[in-house]
Amino acid sequence: MKILDAKFVQDFIKMADDGYQQGWHERNGGNLSYRIKPEEVEIIRNRLDEKGEWIPIGVSVPDLAGEFFMVTGTGKYFRNIIVDPEACLTIIEIDEKGENYRKRWGLVEGGGPTSELPTHLMNHEVKKRVSGGKHRVIYHAHTTNVIALTFVLPLKDEIFTRELWEMATECPIVFPDGVGVIGWMVPGGREIAIETGKLMEKYDAVIWAHHGMFCSGESFDLTFGLMHTIEKSAEILIKVLSMKPDKLQTITPDNFRDLAVAFHVQLPERFLYEK
Ligand code: 13P
Ligand code: ZN
Repeated sequence: MKILDAKFVQDFIKMADDGYQQGWHERNGGNLSYRIKPEEVEIIRNRLDEKGEWIPIGVSVPDLAGEFFMVTGTGKYFRNIIVDPEACLTIIEIDEKGENYRKRWGLVEGGGPTSELPTHLMNHEVKKRVSGGKHRVIYHAHTTNVIALTFVLPLKDEIFTRELWEMATECPIVFPDGVGVIGWMVPGGREIAIETGKLMEKYDAVIWAHHGMFCSGESFDLTFGLMHTIEKSAEILIKVLSMKPDKLQTITPDNFRDLAVAFHVQLPERFLYEK
């Protein structure tokens, strides 16, 4: 099958364009990766390119040995993914040690995978393990309202989670485990990949202060939906804070406990503190 005709490729491109249309991908901001299923690799195998040279990933991901990923290219604009996917996207293969990758398709005008490849692959490795292989999508976006909140809220998981939960009743049902927050770090390297990977052990969403957010999920829809829900909640919080510094009424800890019973979700008590 032609690579661009594969369903997962179509879904990848649609999600990237949905993110662009939300305004989360100025210039080359953000990146997306998908852990391709073995049967999907077989469908496209005869269209993969010659095996290129092995290049160090910069981190070790032994549990991803032999896996194939579709990822966005570094410096590529999300705006252009739908226009010219073969120039903006690539399929890479991981070696049997999980230390190197090689290009097998795409980036026809040159270039390499996203500079955030270490974080993407470390997140994939953690999520593959903790989800029993179900999670396949890692998405990084420059979500405007979440970024703005990192200038005014304390950079604590408990505070971000609780404030975001309070802004929309559906939030604790969509992300019952909460969100993790990392203080400002240099992007694009090993250190930030390790810190993000640690938080991905317990959260599906991690905020990078003054930068953006990473989300993980089983499918393109679920991962995009998670990013969208959190960013919308951040937008509501900013509107509320812009009107008045304190709320007249809100969803209370006991309301959240009732919600947990009604929707069969576990909401950790550490997020339900008295203010
Ligand atoms: P890339 O163009 O390398 O994907 O980088 C964009 C980005 O958002 C870095 O955090
Ligand atoms: Zn970024």
